[in-house]
Amino acid sequence: MKVLVTRQLPGKWLDYLSSYVSVELWDKEYPPPRDWIIEHVKDKDGILVTLTERVDKEVIDSAPRLKVISTYSVGYDHIDVQYAKKRGIIVTYTPEVLTDATADLIFGLIIAVARRIVEGDKLIREGKWNTSWHPMFMLGTEVHGKVLGILGMGRIGMAVAKRAKGFDMKVIYNSRRPHNVEWQFVDLDTLFRESDYLVIAVDLNPSTYHLVNEDKLRLMKRSSFLINASRGAVVDEKALVKALKEGWIRGAALDVFEREPIGADNELVKLDNVVLTPHLGSATWETREKMAEVAVKNMLFALRGERPIYEVP
Ligand code: DGY
Repeated sequence: MKVLVTRQLPGKWLDYLSSYVSVELWDKEYPPPRDWIIEHVKDKDGILVTLTERVDKEVIDSAPRLKVISTYSVGYDHIDVQYAKKRGIIVTYTPEVLTDATADLIFGLIIAVARRIVEGDKLIREGKWNTSWHPMFMLGTEVHGKVLGILGMGRIGMAVAKRAKGFDMKVIYNSRRPHNVEWQFVDLDTLFRESDYLVIAVDLNPSTYHLVNEDKLRLMKRSSFLINASRGAVVDEKALVKALKEGWIRGAALDVFEREPIGADNELVKLDNVVLTPHLGSATWETREKMAEVAVKNMLFALRGERPIYEVP
């Protein structure tokens, strides 16, 4: 069996894969060009991709032997799952193992933006800490005791809600349907109106594309914050920039963007009331190794005709 792998993975798992199948690896840090994928997937039984590779009809059609697409991610919006399934190809992903790391980062983002941690760090590094301690210096917003709104109460949403307990926060949420959980389900507009911190934890699909648009942002409190570590395109970025510039909300903390990577010319970079991180939700050594294990085992199990650990529903 032959497998195409589009990026080096941490730990021993690519060697493990190579001990069972013949692996062709794109070993650069940047993503392989699309033409390279189309050329090299032709004779492969499996392809192991990351979220930067678009696996659409064209790629799938260029691989007549393809049986498995294993993505090293929880998100699978970069794959035409419906078409793959129609072709009888199994699509697998890596949920659960990255839930806690992502929830940790989300909480970090909440605290960083509310307490102006990045601004403070920048101020010192730029040699601008000129005043001594002052009662009104760099005041931020409290986190404990506030209302945490969660859009999408899946695994990551629940892990964030659990962490909020330690901060005595009231948690409200909206998702496709109410869950049997201790937190309060509210309709979408109420979620936007009442949240002090609104965390986006839905996946990207046609129904969530630009779900957070100008109308929704206008519902939010002027003192509130938006946090996104899901997919950039859930938020209409232009509308968010307007909201941040015009003070409809107090700030935002973003780990994901409509087009990644963003450059220094992006409007968001010019705003002080925003904390930005470069898509780091799952980026810990421990989690990225677990993702590698799951992605590789998913591939091997599915190639052998066994049930993978996580098949995309
Ligand atoms: C995912 O897995 O989809 C995250 O965005 C990156 O780990």
